[in-house]
Amino acid sequence: MAIPERFSNLPDYAFPRLRKLLAGIEPGGDPLILTIGEPRHDMPAFVGPILQDSLAEFGKYPANEGTPELLAAISGWLARRHGLDVVPERIMALNGTREGLFNAGLALSPETKNGQRPAILIPNPFYQVYAVAAAAVGAEPVFVPATAATGHMPRFADLAPEVLDRTTIAYLCSPANPQGAIAGEDYLQELIALADRHDFLVFSDECYSEIWRDAPPPGALAVATRMGLADRVVMFNSLSKRSNLPGLRSGFAAGGAGQIAQMRRLRSYAGAPLPLPLQRVSAAAWGDEGHVEESRALYQQKYAIADRVLGNVPGYQPVAGGFFLWLPVPESVGDSEDAARKLWAEAGIQVLPGAYLARDGAGGNPGRNFIRVALVAAADQTEAALNRLKNCLYQGG
Ligand SMILES: Cc1ncc(COP(=O)(O)O)c(C=O)c1O
Repeated sequence: MAIPERFSNLPDYAFPRLRKLLAGIEPGGDPLILTIGEPRHDMPAFVGPILQDSLAEFGKYPANEGTPELLAAISGWLARRHGLDVVPERIMALNGTREGLFNAGLALSPETKNGQRPAILIPNPFYQVYAVAAAAVGAEPVFVPATAATGHMPRFADLAPEVLDRTTIAYLCSPANPQGAIAGEDYLQELIALADRHDFLVFSDECYSEIWRDAPPPGALAVATRMGLADRVVMFNSLSKRSNLPGLRSGFAAGGAGQIAQMRRLRSYAGAPLPLPLQRVSAAAWGDEGHVEESRALYQQKYAIADRVLGNVPGYQPVAGGFFLWLPVPESVGDSEDAARKLWAEAGIQVLPGAYLARDGAGGNPGRNFIRVALVAAADQTEAALNRLKNCLYQGG
């Protein structure tokens, strides 16, 4: 039997593609892996003791949408961080943002809009789950360039009104993976107004929101709430990056009452709720900022290292938020796959070809001349890796 056609033309995920690309190539130095976005700073010290104290709760089925304690902790964080007053009914616990970003599409994108096939807007390059969500609901994915020419944020307003009128969802990621750009307050206001004019939802992926250089990025739900349009936004956040707990699989969605009710309904049938001991750890993590500040300071130190080592590279873009560098590939090296092969073969450095994080659009694949470099290792290792990378890629060494 065939697999569903809607998934048959999905490219392989970025990491298997990279393994294939580098197969058989010996690393030309001590291997340094800068590909995966897995935080490596310390997790908060309270994780172990809380887990230990709540082991017996593995014997119970967990609350589907989150325990009252967890929802209250998230609501408290939304109040402190974004000045929001969100009742628990407008929040839902998730097993990380990835499944939420996917399942929210299933819950909220209708089969047709204005009698037509829906469109789902996706920044290009982008976090790959957005496109799979569009495929799952039978929507047309519309890839919108988010390049240097657009300030690394998609210009959804430039799309034809015909497309906007059948749009059901626009995904946005700020701070952006992979470009490290931040959507400002004005940008968010314009996007939310556009969503309101054309009657679509904004899914705001804010999982890097606590890792920033100069100032906390604005949140889309807060901006929408100030505009009286909270129902236009579903925001997603998680403890993976904020609290260095990617393996906990804990996040949340918050938004309008109707949207979250619909997401909760679907989850009550088909979701995998977060085990109770993990909900307890999560509640403690949302309630504590000390560990977040310490981790952020380490990233800021690494931003400074990157600026120092790579600041003179033509086209270098200092990171505003998140933990990825999005580095230009010199013409003499070739494209992003050539750069990844060269760095592995000559310097033992593994990076992700930018082409794997984007799709072909009108001007070609916007990631084809970039590599993504994760700043997740310790500062001294990061500095050594970036120096090696610079010598190999930008100085022909
Ligand atoms: C942009 C973006 N969104 C969402 C996720 C998913 O994170 P999690 O499911 O761990 O919250 C990631 C993880 O790398 C990401 O980079």
